[in-house]
Amino acid sequence: MSQTVRTQPPARTDSPITRAASPAPVSGAATTAPVPADVVLSVRDLWIEYRARRGMVKAIRSVSFDLRRGESLALIGESGSGKTTVSLALIRMLDSAARVPRGQILYQRDGRVSDVLALSPEALRLYRWRECAMVFQGAQNAFNPVMKIWNQMLDTARAHGMNNVKEVRRRADDLLRRVQLEPERVLRSYPHELSGGMKQRVLIALGLLLDPQILILDEPTTALDILTQRSIITLLRGLKEELGFSTIFISHDLSLAAELADRVATMYAGRVVELAPVEEMFYHTRHPYTLGLLHAVPTLTSGKDIASIPGSTPDLIDLPSGCSFHPRCPFVMERCMGPEEPPDYVVSPDHTSMCFRWQDLADEEQAAQTAVRVAAEREAL
Ligand SMILES: Nc1ncnc2c1ncn2[C@@H]1O[C@H](COP(=O)(O)OP(=O)(O)OP(=O)(O)O)[C@@H](O)[C@H]1O
Ligand SMILES: [Mg+2]
Repeated sequence: MSQTVRTQPPARTDSPITRAASPAPVSGAATTAPVPADVVLSVRDLWIEYRARRGMVKAIRSVSFDLRRGESLALIGESGSGKTTVSLALIRMLDSAARVPRGQILYQRDGRVSDVLALSPEALRLYRWRECAMVFQGAQNAFNPVMKIWNQMLDTARAHGMNNVKEVRRRADDLLRRVQLEPERVLRSYPHELSGGMKQRVLIALGLLLDPQILILDEPTTALDILTQRSIITLLRGLKEELGFSTIFISHDLSLAAELADRVATMYAGRVVELAPVEEMFYHTRHPYTLGLLHAVPTLTSGKDIASIPGSTPDLIDLPSGCSFHPRCPFVMERCMGPEEPPDYVVSPDHTSMCFRWQDLADEEQAAQTAVRVAAEREAL
Protein backbone atom coordinates (compact mmCIF):
# COMPACT_ATOMS: atom_id res chain seq x y z
CA MET A 1 0.00 0.00 0.00
CA SER A 2 1.30 3.40 -0.92
CA GLN A 3 2.31 5.80 1.80
CA THR A 4 1.32 8.71 -0.35
CA VAL A 5 -2.06 7.84 -1.73
CA ARG A 6 -4.08 5.35 0.18
CA THR A 7 -7.20 3.86 -1.29
CA GLN A 8 -8.82 2.11 1.61
CA PRO A 9 -11.11 3.58 4.25
CA PRO A 10 -10.54 5.47 6.46
CA ALA A 11 -8.29 7.28 4.00
CA ARG A 12 -11.05 9.70 3.10
CA THR A 13 -9.18 12.85 4.01
CA ASP A 14 -5.61 11.90 3.31
CA SER A 15 -5.92 10.40 -0.16
CA PRO A 16 -5.64 12.89 -2.97
CA ILE A 17 -7.14 10.37 -5.33
CA THR A 18 -8.51 6.93 -5.65
CA ARG A 19 -8.17 5.08 -8.86
CA ALA A 20 -9.99 2.39 -10.61
CA ALA A 21 -10.27 1.31 -14.23
CA SER A 22 -8.59 -0.97 -16.66
CA PRO A 23 -8.81 -2.17 -20.20
CA ALA A 24 -10.08 -5.48 -18.89
CA PRO A 25 -13.62 -5.74 -17.58
CA VAL A 26 -13.94 -6.00 -13.83
CA SER A 27 -14.84 -9.42 -12.62
CA GLY A 28 -17.25 -9.69 -9.74
CA ALA A 29 -20.90 -10.21 -9.14
CA ALA A 30 -22.14 -10.02 -12.71
CA THR A 31 -25.74 -8.99 -13.00
CA THR A 32 -28.25 -9.42 -15.76
CA ALA A 33 -30.03 -6.14 -15.04
CA PRO A 34 -30.50 -4.32 -18.32
CA VAL A 35 -28.16 -1.35 -18.45
CA PRO A 36 -28.45 0.69 -21.67
CA ALA A 37 -25.39 0.35 -23.92
CA ASP A 38 -24.40 4.02 -23.58
CA VAL A 39 -24.49 3.96 -19.77
CA VAL A 40 -21.25 3.37 -17.83
CA LEU A 41 -22.72 3.62 -14.35
CA SER A 42 -26.27 3.04 -13.23
CA VAL A 43 -27.17 3.88 -9.63
CA ARG A 44 -30.45 2.30 -8.62
CA ASP A 45 -32.51 2.82 -5.49
CA LEU A 46 -29.44 3.55 -3.36
CA TRP A 47 -29.91 4.10 0.38
CA ILE A 48 -27.10 5.08 2.77
CA GLU A 49 -27.26 5.83 6.46
CA TYR A 50 -24.67 6.77 9.09
CA ARG A 51 -24.75 5.60 12.68
CA ALA A 52 -24.64 8.64 14.93
CA ARG A 53 -25.11 9.13 18.67
CA ARG A 54 -28.60 10.57 18.26
CA GLY A 55 -29.74 7.90 15.81
CA MET A 56 -29.45 6.96 12.14
CA VAL A 57 -28.57 9.79 9.76
CA LYS A 58 -30.54 9.07 6.58
CA ALA A 59 -27.92 10.56 4.28
CA ILE A 60 -29.08 9.04 0.95
CA ARG A 61 -32.61 7.85 0.24
CA SER A 62 -33.56 6.00 -2.90
CA VAL A 63 -31.16 7.77 -5.23
CA SER A 64 -31.18 6.63 -8.85
CA PHE A 65 -29.37 8.02 -11.88
CA ASP A 66 -27.39 6.90 -14.91
CA LEU A 67 -24.02 8.22 -16.04
CA ARG A 68 -23.65 7.98 -19.80
CA ARG A 69 -20.45 7.37 -21.72
CA GLY A 70 -18.49 10.62 -22.13
CA GLU A 71 -21.05 12.74 -20.30
CA SER A 72 -20.53 15.16 -17.48
CA LEU A 73 -23.09 14.98 -14.70
CA ALA A 74 -23.17 17.69 -12.03
CA LEU A 75 -24.46 17.06 -8.51
CA ILE A 76 -25.61 20.30 -6.93
CA GLY A 77 -27.21 21.05 -3.57
CA GLU A 78 -26.56 22.71 -0.24
CA SER A 79 -24.06 21.49 2.30
CA GLY A 80 -25.16 18.19 3.83
CA SER A 81 -27.43 17.19 0.94
CA GLY A 82 -25.43 13.98 0.40
CA LYS A 83 -23.25 14.80 -2.62
CA THR A 84 -19.99 13.48 -1.19
CA THR A 85 -21.70 10.47 0.41
CA VAL A 86 -23.14 9.31 -2.90
CA SER A 87 -19.79 9.80 -4.67
CA LEU A 88 -17.86 7.89 -2.00
CA ALA A 89 -20.36 5.06 -2.36
CA LEU A 90 -19.56 4.86 -6.08
CA ILE A 91 -15.98 3.83 -5.22
CA ARG A 92 -16.99 2.07 -1.99
CA MET A 93 -14.97 4.35 0.22
CA LEU A 94 -17.65 5.22 2.72
CA ASP A 95 -16.69 5.76 6.31
CA SER A 96 -17.09 2.79 8.68
CA ALA A 97 -20.12 4.46 10.31
CA ALA A 98 -21.99 4.13 7.00
CA ARG A 99 -24.38 1.34 6.03
CA VAL A 100 -25.89 0.66 2.61
CA PRO A 101 -29.16 -1.12 3.38
CA ARG A 102 -30.35 -1.16 -0.20
CA GLY A 103 -29.42 -0.36 -3.77
CA GLN A 104 -27.30 -1.23 -6.77
CA ILE A 105 -24.36 0.54 -8.38
CA LEU A 106 -24.05 -1.09 -11.78
CA TYR A 107 -20.83 -0.51 -13.68
CA GLN A 108 -20.57 -1.35 -17.38
CA ARG A 109 -17.42 -1.92 -19.42
CA ASP A 110 -17.42 -3.60 -22.85
CA GLY A 111 -21.00 -4.78 -22.44
CA ARG A 112 -20.28 -6.49 -19.14
CA VAL A 113 -22.11 -5.29 -16.04
CA SER A 114 -20.95 -5.60 -12.41
CA ASP A 115 -22.54 -4.44 -9.20
CA VAL A 116 -19.90 -2.35 -7.43
CA LEU A 117 -21.55 -3.12 -4.09
CA ALA A 118 -21.05 -6.85 -4.66
CA LEU A 119 -17.45 -6.86 -5.95
CA SER A 120 -14.93 -9.11 -4.25
CA PRO A 121 -12.03 -7.28 -2.54
CA GLU A 122 -9.70 -8.02 -5.47
CA ALA A 123 -12.24 -6.94 -8.11
CA LEU A 124 -12.93 -3.84 -6.05
CA ARG A 125 -9.21 -3.03 -5.99
CA LEU A 126 -9.11 -3.22 -9.79
CA TYR A 127 -12.32 -1.28 -10.19
CA ARG A 128 -11.24 1.50 -7.87
CA TRP A 129 -7.84 1.86 -9.22
CA ARG A 130 -8.49 1.48 -12.88
CA GLU A 131 -12.13 2.12 -13.72
CA CYS A 132 -13.25 4.97 -11.51
CA ALA A 133 -11.04 7.64 -9.96
CA MET A 134 -11.93 10.39 -7.55
CA VAL A 135 -10.36 13.70 -6.69
CA PHE A 136 -11.51 14.27 -3.13
CA GLN A 137 -13.02 17.38 -1.62
CA GLY A 138 -10.20 19.54 -0.19
CA ALA A 139 -7.54 17.10 -1.44
CA GLN A 140 -5.06 19.88 -2.17
CA ASN A 141 -3.98 19.61 1.44
CA ALA A 142 -3.63 15.85 1.25
CA PHE A 143 -0.27 15.70 -0.51
CA ASN A 144 2.59 14.31 1.51
CA PRO A 145 4.49 17.54 2.37
CA VAL A 146 7.94 15.90 2.47
CA MET A 147 7.76 14.05 -0.86
CA LYS A 148 8.40 15.49 -4.30
CA ILE A 149 5.48 15.37 -6.74
CA TRP A 150 7.24 12.79 -8.94
CA ASN A 151 7.59 10.36 -6.02
CA GLN A 152 3.94 10.87 -5.14
CA MET A 153 2.90 10.15 -8.72
CA LEU A 154 5.14 7.11 -8.91
CA ASP A 155 3.82 5.79 -5.61
CA THR A 156 0.28 6.23 -6.81
CA ALA A 157 1.00 4.40 -10.06
CA ARG A 158 2.76 1.54 -8.28
CA ALA A 159 0.04 1.19 -5.71
CA HIS A 160 -2.32 0.69 -8.60
CA GLY A 161 -0.28 -1.89 -10.43
CA MET A 162 1.57 0.33 -12.91
CA ASN A 163 5.19 -0.65 -12.25
CA ASN A 164 7.09 0.39 -15.37
CA VAL A 165 8.84 3.59 -14.24
CA LYS A 166 9.49 4.80 -17.80
CA GLU A 167 5.86 4.29 -18.70
CA VAL A 168 4.73 6.14 -15.56
CA ARG A 169 7.05 9.02 -16.41
CA ARG A 170 5.79 9.15 -20.00
CA ARG A 171 2.18 9.18 -18.85
CA ALA A 172 2.88 11.73 -16.08
CA ASP A 173 4.65 14.03 -18.56
CA ASP A 174 1.82 13.75 -21.03
CA LEU A 175 -0.89 14.43 -18.44
CA LEU A 176 0.96 17.29 -16.80
CA ARG A 177 1.38 18.94 -20.19
CA ARG A 178 -2.30 18.40 -20.85
CA VAL A 179 -3.12 20.23 -17.62
CA GLN A 180 -0.75 22.97 -18.76
CA LEU A 181 2.04 22.38 -16.27
CA GLU A 182 5.73 22.02 -17.00
CA PRO A 183 6.50 18.40 -16.12
CA GLU A 184 10.21 18.87 -15.38
CA ARG A 185 9.59 21.67 -12.94
CA VAL A 186 6.49 20.27 -11.25
CA LEU A 187 7.78 16.74 -10.80
CA ARG A 188 10.88 18.10 -9.01
CA SER A 189 8.79 20.27 -6.67
CA TYR A 190 7.52 19.71 -3.16
CA PRO A 191 3.81 20.42 -2.68
CA HIS A 192 4.46 23.71 -0.84
CA GLU A 193 6.27 25.01 -3.91
CA LEU A 194 3.07 24.83 -5.96
CA SER A 195 0.12 27.21 -5.89
CA GLY A 196 -3.40 25.97 -5.07
CA GLY A 197 -4.33 26.01 -8.75
CA MET A 198 -1.21 24.03 -9.69
CA LYS A 199 -1.92 21.44 -6.99
CA GLN A 200 -5.45 21.04 -8.27
CA ARG A 201 -4.07 20.47 -11.78
CA VAL A 202 -1.65 17.85 -10.45
CA LEU A 203 -4.57 16.13 -8.71
CA ILE A 204 -6.53 16.03 -11.95
CA ALA A 205 -3.49 14.56 -13.72
CA LEU A 206 -3.14 11.99 -10.93
CA GLY A 207 -6.80 11.14 -11.33
CA LEU A 208 -6.24 10.35 -14.99
CA LEU A 209 -2.97 8.47 -14.56
CA LEU A 210 -4.52 5.04 -15.12
CA ASP A 211 -6.91 6.18 -17.83
CA PRO A 212 -10.19 5.57 -15.98
CA GLN A 213 -13.61 5.53 -17.61
CA ILE A 214 -15.04 7.70 -14.85
CA LEU A 215 -13.53 10.65 -13.00
CA ILE A 216 -15.34 11.99 -9.94
CA LEU A 217 -14.40 15.53 -8.91
CA ASP A 218 -15.65 16.72 -5.55
CA GLU A 219 -15.69 20.55 -5.48
CA PRO A 220 -12.84 20.89 -8.01
CA THR A 221 -12.66 24.68 -7.87
CA THR A 222 -13.60 25.50 -4.29
CA ALA A 223 -10.90 27.51 -2.46
CA LEU A 224 -9.39 28.76 -5.71
CA ASP A 225 -9.47 32.37 -6.85
CA ILE A 226 -11.85 33.27 -9.66
CA LEU A 227 -9.26 33.34 -12.46
CA THR A 228 -7.79 30.01 -11.40
CA GLN A 229 -11.32 28.58 -11.25
CA ARG A 230 -11.85 29.73 -14.81
CA SER A 231 -8.66 28.10 -16.05
CA ILE A 232 -9.54 24.81 -14.30
CA ILE A 233 -12.97 24.85 -15.96
CA THR A 234 -11.46 25.41 -19.41
CA LEU A 235 -8.94 22.69 -18.74
CA LEU A 236 -11.53 20.12 -17.63
CA ARG A 237 -13.66 20.86 -20.66
CA GLY A 238 -10.71 20.31 -23.00
CA LEU A 239 -9.54 17.13 -21.24
CA LYS A 240 -13.00 15.62 -21.37
CA GLU A 241 -13.27 16.30 -25.08
CA GLU A 242 -9.81 14.92 -25.84
CA LEU A 243 -9.87 11.86 -23.60
CA GLY A 244 -13.59 11.05 -23.62
CA PHE A 245 -14.00 9.97 -19.98
CA SER A 246 -17.26 10.45 -18.07
CA THR A 247 -17.34 12.88 -15.17
CA ILE A 248 -19.39 13.28 -12.05
CA PHE A 249 -18.59 16.56 -10.49
CA ILE A 250 -19.89 18.08 -7.35
CA SER A 251 -20.23 21.78 -6.88
CA HIS A 252 -21.90 24.48 -4.88
CA ASP A 253 -21.20 26.71 -7.83
CA LEU A 254 -24.01 26.67 -10.36
CA SER A 255 -22.04 28.66 -12.91
CA LEU A 256 -19.53 25.83 -12.93
CA ALA A 257 -22.34 23.33 -13.51
CA ALA A 258 -23.67 25.53 -16.30
CA GLU A 259 -20.32 25.46 -18.07
CA LEU A 260 -19.23 21.90 -17.51
CA ALA A 261 -22.30 19.73 -17.19
CA ASP A 262 -24.33 17.94 -19.81
CA ARG A 263 -26.92 17.06 -17.17
CA VAL A 264 -27.53 18.32 -13.65
CA ALA A 265 -28.94 16.47 -10.62
CA THR A 266 -30.20 18.58 -7.72
CA MET A 267 -29.87 16.90 -4.34
CA TYR A 268 -31.88 17.82 -1.28
CA ALA A 269 -31.83 15.97 2.04
CA GLY A 270 -30.37 12.83 0.49
CA ARG A 271 -32.58 12.63 -2.58
CA VAL A 272 -32.14 13.60 -6.22
CA VAL A 273 -35.15 15.92 -6.38
CA GLU A 274 -34.64 17.03 -9.98
CA LEU A 275 -32.57 15.71 -12.88
CA ALA A 276 -32.41 17.32 -16.31
CA PRO A 277 -30.14 18.38 -19.17
CA VAL A 278 -28.28 21.51 -18.16
CA GLU A 279 -30.21 24.04 -20.26
CA GLU A 280 -33.55 22.53 -19.36
CA MET A 281 -32.58 22.66 -15.69
CA PHE A 282 -31.56 26.30 -15.77
CA TYR A 283 -34.26 27.66 -18.08
CA HIS A 284 -37.18 25.34 -17.30
CA THR A 285 -36.66 24.13 -13.77
CA ARG A 286 -39.57 22.15 -12.37
CA HIS A 287 -38.54 21.98 -8.72
CA PRO A 288 -38.85 24.90 -6.27
CA TYR A 289 -35.57 23.93 -4.60
CA THR A 290 -33.58 24.16 -7.86
CA LEU A 291 -35.34 27.46 -8.49
CA GLY A 292 -34.22 28.65 -5.04
CA LEU A 293 -30.62 27.63 -5.77
CA LEU A 294 -30.73 29.51 -9.08
CA HIS A 295 -32.06 32.65 -7.42
CA ALA A 296 -29.32 32.41 -4.82
CA VAL A 297 -26.54 32.70 -7.42
CA PRO A 298 -24.69 35.99 -7.02
CA THR A 299 -23.83 37.82 -10.23
CA LEU A 300 -21.38 40.66 -10.53
CA THR A 301 -23.37 42.49 -13.15
CA SER A 302 -27.06 41.88 -12.54
CA GLY A 303 -27.34 44.41 -9.73
CA LYS A 304 -30.17 42.27 -8.33
CA ASP A 305 -30.31 41.18 -4.71
CA ILE A 306 -29.55 37.55 -4.03
CA ALA A 307 -32.60 35.71 -2.77
CA SER A 308 -31.42 33.14 -0.27
CA ILE A 309 -33.58 30.10 0.42
CA PRO A 310 -35.36 30.70 3.73
CA GLY A 311 -34.87 28.28 6.62
CA SER A 312 -32.21 25.62 6.91
CA THR A 313 -31.63 22.08 5.71
CA PRO A 314 -33.61 19.45 7.62
CA ASP A 315 -32.41 17.15 10.38
CA LEU A 316 -31.58 13.92 8.54
CA ILE A 317 -32.30 11.87 11.66
CA ASP A 318 -35.82 13.22 11.99
CA LEU A 319 -36.95 14.27 8.53
CA PRO A 320 -40.11 16.34 7.94
CA SER A 321 -43.07 14.27 6.72
CA GLY A 322 -44.09 14.42 3.07
CA CYS A 323 -41.73 16.44 0.90
CA SER A 324 -38.63 17.24 3.01
CA PHE A 325 -38.39 20.66 1.35
CA HIS A 326 -41.95 21.66 2.35
CA PRO A 327 -41.01 23.76 5.45
CA ARG A 328 -38.93 26.06 3.19
CA CYS A 329 -40.94 25.90 0.00
CA PRO A 330 -42.74 28.98 -1.38
CA PHE A 331 -45.07 26.65 -3.34
CA VAL A 332 -46.09 24.54 -0.33
CA MET A 333 -49.66 23.21 -0.13
CA GLU A 334 -51.33 20.80 2.26
CA ARG A 335 -50.49 17.67 0.28
CA CYS A 336 -46.74 18.47 0.48
CA MET A 337 -46.83 18.07 4.28
CA GLY A 338 -47.53 14.38 4.06
CA PRO A 339 -47.98 11.63 4.67
CA GLU A 340 -46.64 10.60 1.26
CA GLU A 341 -43.46 11.95 -0.39
CA PRO A 342 -43.82 13.26 -3.95
CA PRO A 343 -43.00 10.60 -6.55
CA ASP A 344 -40.43 11.16 -9.28
CA TYR A 345 -42.58 12.81 -11.97
CA VAL A 346 -41.45 12.51 -15.57
CA VAL A 347 -41.56 16.09 -16.86
CA SER A 348 -40.15 15.14 -20.27
CA PRO A 349 -38.21 12.07 -21.43
CA ASP A 350 -34.93 13.32 -19.89
CA HIS A 351 -36.29 15.45 -17.05
CA THR A 352 -37.67 14.31 -13.70
CA SER A 353 -38.88 16.26 -10.68
CA MET A 354 -40.01 15.18 -7.21
CA CYS A 355 -42.53 17.95 -6.74
CA PHE A 356 -46.32 17.65 -6.59
CA ARG A 357 -46.49 21.13 -8.10
CA TRP A 358 -44.06 20.79 -11.00
CA GLN A 359 -46.89 21.57 -13.42
CA ASP A 360 -47.62 24.83 -11.56
CA LEU A 361 -44.00 25.89 -12.09
CA ALA A 362 -44.50 25.23 -15.80
CA ASP A 363 -47.69 27.33 -15.80
CA GLU A 364 -45.97 30.11 -13.90
CA GLU A 365 -43.07 30.11 -16.34
CA GLN A 366 -45.49 30.22 -19.24
CA ALA A 367 -47.42 33.10 -17.65
CA ALA A 368 -44.16 35.03 -17.13
CA GLN A 369 -43.11 34.40 -20.73
CA THR A 370 -46.54 35.55 -21.97
CA ALA A 371 -46.29 38.71 -19.85
CA VAL A 372 -42.86 39.51 -21.33
CA ARG A 373 -44.17 38.88 -24.87
CA VAL A 374 -47.28 41.03 -24.35
CA ALA A 375 -45.15 43.86 -22.92
CA ALA A 376 -42.78 43.64 -25.89
CA GLU A 377 -45.71 43.66 -28.34
CA ARG A 378 -47.20 46.71 -26.60
CA GLU A 379 -43.87 48.47 -26.76
CA ALA A 380 -43.62 47.73 -30.46
CA LEU A 381 -47.04 49.37 -31.18
N1 LIG B 1 -19.03 9.90 8.85
C1 LIG B 1 -20.21 10.42 9.07
N2 LIG B 1 -20.92 10.13 10.19
C2 LIG B 1 -22.14 10.67 10.41
N3 LIG B 1 -22.78 11.48 9.53
C3 LIG B 1 -22.12 11.79 8.41
C4 LIG B 1 -20.82 11.29 8.11
N4 LIG B 1 -20.44 11.77 6.89
C5 LIG B 1 -21.46 12.54 6.47
N5 LIG B 1 -22.47 12.54 7.36
C6 LIG B 1 -23.75 13.26 7.25
O1 LIG B 1 -24.37 12.87 6.03
C7 LIG B 1 -24.98 14.00 5.42
C8 LIG B 1 -24.47 14.17 4.02
O2 LIG B 1 -23.11 14.56 4.09
P1 LIG B 1 -22.22 14.80 2.78
O3 LIG B 1 -20.84 15.04 3.25
O4 LIG B 1 -22.45 13.71 1.83
O5 LIG B 1 -22.87 16.15 2.22
P2 LIG B 1 -22.38 17.10 1.05
O6 LIG B 1 -23.57 17.35 0.18
O7 LIG B 1 -21.18 16.54 0.40
O8 LIG B 1 -22.03 18.44 1.83
P3 LIG B 1 -20.86 19.53 1.56
O9 LIG B 1 -21.42 20.39 0.45
O10 LIG B 1 -20.77 20.28 2.85
O11 LIG B 1 -19.62 18.84 1.20
C9 LIG B 1 -24.71 15.20 6.33
O12 LIG B 1 -25.82 15.40 7.16
C10 LIG B 1 -23.52 14.76 7.13
O13 LIG B 1 -23.52 15.36 8.41
MG1 LIG C 1 -19.18 17.21 0.23
